Amino acid sequence: MAAEIIDGKAFAEGLRERVGKLAASFEKEAGRKAGLAVVLVGEDPASQIYVRNKGKQTVACGMASFEHVLPVDTPEADLLALVEKLNTDPAVDGILVQLPLPDHMDEQKVIATINPDKDVDGFHVISAGRLAVGQKGFVACTPLGCLMLLKDRLGELSGLDAVVIGRSNIVGKPMAQLLLKESCTVTIAHSRTRNLPEVVRRADIVVAAVGRPEMVKGDWVKPGATVIDVGMNRLPPTEEKPKGKLVGDVDFAEVSQVAGAITPVPGGVGPMTIAVLLRNTIVAAHRNAGIELAEGAI
Ligand code: GUN
Repeated sequence: MAAEIIDGKAFAEGLRERVGKLAASFEKEAGRKAGLAVVLVGEDPASQIYVRNKGKQTVACGMASFEHVLPVDTPEADLLALVEKLNTDPAVDGILVQLPLPDHMDEQKVIATINPDKDVDGFHVISAGRLAVGQKGFVACTPLGCLMLLKDRLGELSGLDAVVIGRSNIVGKPMAQLLLKESCTVTIAHSRTRNLPEVVRRADIVVAAVGRPEMVKGDWVKPGATVIDVGMNRLPPTEEKPKGKLVGDVDFAEVSQVAGAITPVPGGVGPMTIAVLLRNTIVAAHRNAGIELAEGAI
């Protein structure tokens, strides 16, 4: 039987609507809009598109968007000074420095300068530490979006076997922490994992975040499993697809015949990332203004 397709685009729209309602009530109570500052250094076209979309969606949700675009040859000290200014700006609840940064900048140093209470990207080591020990903080947007889709589809995750393929700091590791917090039995698989198909076949939940086009095959997946595909890979151009077809890390044609549910690429995890960023920003605004937001309100 063919798998249910998990519609991340529709879920993200619903999430943005909920953020919009909270943004409106926040503005009434706080007497100001919640605010997100996005910093872009240089002119990378993909980053420019991301930043434009973030700004548009922030405003559409009723929050203030502050965009700072710096030339590619900006000295690192100037970027750090800007981040420090945003750290103390009361109109700014969330700060996002778009990655990748130019080569002459130390990304870790820049991220470490962001006030962890405004770290809506969840990339600061303090945010990672808070997640690891179960303290309130911010979780990276893509893995948190994956968890929302999983809970929406499966409800209670406790006791399920989860395999995360990929161990990056921004997806694999936080994804594993989130699933562990939900009481899953978590395996983190990676490029050195032996018998990967066998490991993946144990899983009720598979999260693929390796950046290898269509790597997860149909016979790797337990029938009925829920498969979340974080991959965004372009295949080589063809006449039919001159820009190259966009595919995930999962062989969708095969796996959708075996899985119980699967996210498509595009339209699965992708649209969740910015929606979760807006969610993190409205949560940050409430915390920074000392306004109570019930646990699980969003
Ligand atoms: N570059 C691509 N995606 C992201 C993201 O989610 N956050 C940041 N800071 N940079 C990115």
